[in-house]
Amino acid sequence: MTKDIDLAKFLTRERHNVHLIGVAGSGMSGIAGLLLQLGHQVSGSDKLDSLETDRLQRLGLKFYQQHRAADARDAELVIYSSAIKSDNPILKSARENGKRTVRRAEALAAIMAAKRGILVVGMHGKTTTSAMTAHMLREGGLHPSHYVGAEIPILGANAHWDGRGEFFVAEGDESDGTIALFHPEHALVLNIEEEHLDFYADLAAIENVFRQLLAQTTGKVFYCADEPNATRICRSSDRIICYGLSDEADYRATDIELRNFSSAFWVYRGKERLGEAVLNVPGEHNVRNALGVIALATELGVPFEKIAKSLTKFQHARRRFEIKYDSPRFLLVDDYGHHPTEIKATLKTARSVGRTRVLTMFQPHRYSRTKALRKEFGHAFDQADRVVITDVYGSNESPMPGVTGQLIVDEIAAHGHCGVSYQPRLEWVHRDLGNLLEPGDLVLSLGAGNIHEQLSILAADLVIAEKLKEIVGEIGDVRLYEPLSKHTTLRVGGPAQFWVEPRNETALSELIRFCRRDNLPLFVIGRGSNLLVRDGGIRGVVVHPSGGDFDKIDIHGNEMTAGVGAKLKEIAYAARAADLGGLEWMEGIPGAVGGALRMNAGAMGAQTFEKVVRVRYLDGEGNPHDKNRDELEVHYRHFPLLEQNFAVSATFRGSPAPREQIESRLHESQEKRRTTQPIAKSAGCIFKNPEKCPAGKLVDELGLKNSSIGKARVSEVHGNFIVNDGGATATDMLELIDRIKQAARSKRGIELETEVQIVGEPI
Ligand code: EPU
Repeated sequence: MTKDIDLAKFLTRERHNVHLIGVAGSGMSGIAGLLLQLGHQVSGSDKLDSLETDRLQRLGLKFYQQHRAADARDAELVIYSSAIKSDNPILKSARENGKRTVRRAEALAAIMAAKRGILVVGMHGKTTTSAMTAHMLREGGLHPSHYVGAEIPILGANAHWDGRGEFFVAEGDESDGTIALFHPEHALVLNIEEEHLDFYADLAAIENVFRQLLAQTTGKVFYCADEPNATRICRSSDRIICYGLSDEADYRATDIELRNFSSAFWVYRGKERLGEAVLNVPGEHNVRNALGVIALATELGVPFEKIAKSLTKFQHARRRFEIKYDSPRFLLVDDYGHHPTEIKATLKTARSVGRTRVLTMFQPHRYSRTKALRKEFGHAFDQADRVVITDVYGSNESPMPGVTGQLIVDEIAAHGHCGVSYQPRLEWVHRDLGNLLEPGDLVLSLGAGNIHEQLSILAADLVIAEKLKEIVGEIGDVRLYEPLSKHTTLRVGGPAQFWVEPRNETALSELIRFCRRDNLPLFVIGRGSNLLVRDGGIRGVVVHPSGGDFDKIDIHGNEMTAGVGAKLKEIAYAARAADLGGLEWMEGIPGAVGGALRMNAGAMGAQTFEKVVRVRYLDGEGNPHDKNRDELEVHYRHFPLLEQNFAVSATFRGSPAPREQIESRLHESQEKRRTTQPIAKSAGCIFKNPEKCPAGKLVDELGLKNSSIGKARVSEVHGNFIVNDGGATATDMLELIDRIKQAARSKRGIELETEVQIVGEPI
């Protein structure tokens, strides 16, 4: 094929072999769809596959998940995305062989030239507005063909060729100057402002491209009268029609009522009242966009009743204020907004929805935009209560030194916002916001990259969290991604995916059944005094039985029944109040009953099961059992029953003793602790005492006291304690434990076993 073909004829009236480079992109896949419907043999290559490439393959696309020249050997025409570099093997080979290669927009302009083209342009709202245009003309019976930049459920696909109709509605992409390639019949100009400064030198350069498009528009130019730049640039064209909220607009909206997810307004053409419209998407900016479409459709002869009906049926494109989760307690919304103006508009809409707080996650898109508009970004989040910013999604750009999400965070903070933070790890963004959630919150993800995946993860977890909340009821508590460093005495550990606090046996039993049925891992944590949670946290449900029945201590005769959440220290003091002796040593153990049972904790030469008479627990199916001491198998620092079962309460037996004797034993225990154990944050003894020598003594003799890794340090007071000097990680702790074990093994031939329970996942 020679280079001087008539591209419009080639693409719309003949059948050829065409290859698309970068076919998985949202724009390129639309072209592929059109070409398949026009009867071409279409092949395409991309390093990624997508839902779109799957769909197109079913329609006949030959897809290659790599760029190899040989795969496009038979192509007569090669169409390439702006993201494709000139050294792409297919592009290079096509050019060397004298084949015609065209950019996506050239192909689109040529396809449009075969019909009466309607081009929707502007910096913000193009996809919604072009989709609304195609939908309205379709409802008006005009059988339009269309090409829009995203998946549009109501239109069926992002692109469609309808041989019956005259019109072709397309979204023009101004980002690379290619809108100047189009010669539409009508243009709909939404807004014009500084954007894509990677391509344009300044606003003047952007204006030139728009002026050229307008000069090439043969029919009417529709523009938004509320947009100063659009007004200035379009006003000088012939055959202009303006729309907006201002009184001067040819098509106007009045009495606008913004509802949760829709807007109602009256439409006027000049002084003539056309009727009432209810637009089924939220936000005042969309009222303006709809007015532009109403103006265009009216001028094309679509009756107002059909226009009004189509607006009530309209549904958003994916990622345009798309509701991902909606319950009375929480609302999760995803939006594609990535320019400060779009962010402000979306936040305004989010505010108007009537929830209590708006929490936002934002992924800046492109280094060039982040750098150029950083000041504007600093002002864009005023309407958000909390903002988490992640790193820049580069698209096809290479990183620029100093241009990170932190830049935007600094601008937002400098502007006076107190609720902004930086999370450079994209995969953790959902955690940061999820852990802040309170009933009444709206969570908004913003950005043109892949931030929406974070919201989807949050939405999926929220579905489970809400069920868990139902189980524990009003008195219980459920939190997402709760940092376990807050719930362990060592103060290290990553988050719990679901943190659940039941307050009674019924709720705990329900939780066990729920996790079993839904295949969710379940882990019980008490006071976290003997626990080392790895930095990646714990997946699944982490149950913390506390408060309510779980904290109760009942005394009956010489026996005391305590819930698993009751602190051992409190049992020691309750025993004193009831003049029961033999439980004084419990004062020195920082944990609660559950943990003490689980590991048969001990101090001052005594251990838990010496005093236990009965244990109540739930089995793996949530059924209760009561077992007497003689039915239970117990070892030094180990109680196997609780590996698969869940303790509810235990009954301890004390022996009547004079108050002074109890006081003196309590004092002895306190003194022992005060003089031999560190007060710094720790998990108690790290190792079980080996038979030959107490672990603390061994570590001491090995000369490892005070040795440290990161902020984890072997206590100088007691060798079997590792303390957190502030900010230690689980990784620091584990490395230090390993160092001690190796030294004990190589120097003393002793295999140390950890007493502290090590759980969770590495980062
Ligand atoms: N020792 C040293 N150097 C040290 C630490 C200890 O030489 O750095 C010597 C002590 O002088 C003593 C012997 O080692 O002769 C044992 O030490 P200690 O009396 O402190 O008792 P332990 O066996 O280290 C146990 C429990 C503690 C409990 C205390 C007090 C274990 C693994 N630890 O410690 O429990 O508080 O007795 O009754 O059984 C816990 O399990 O988390 C815990 C703190």
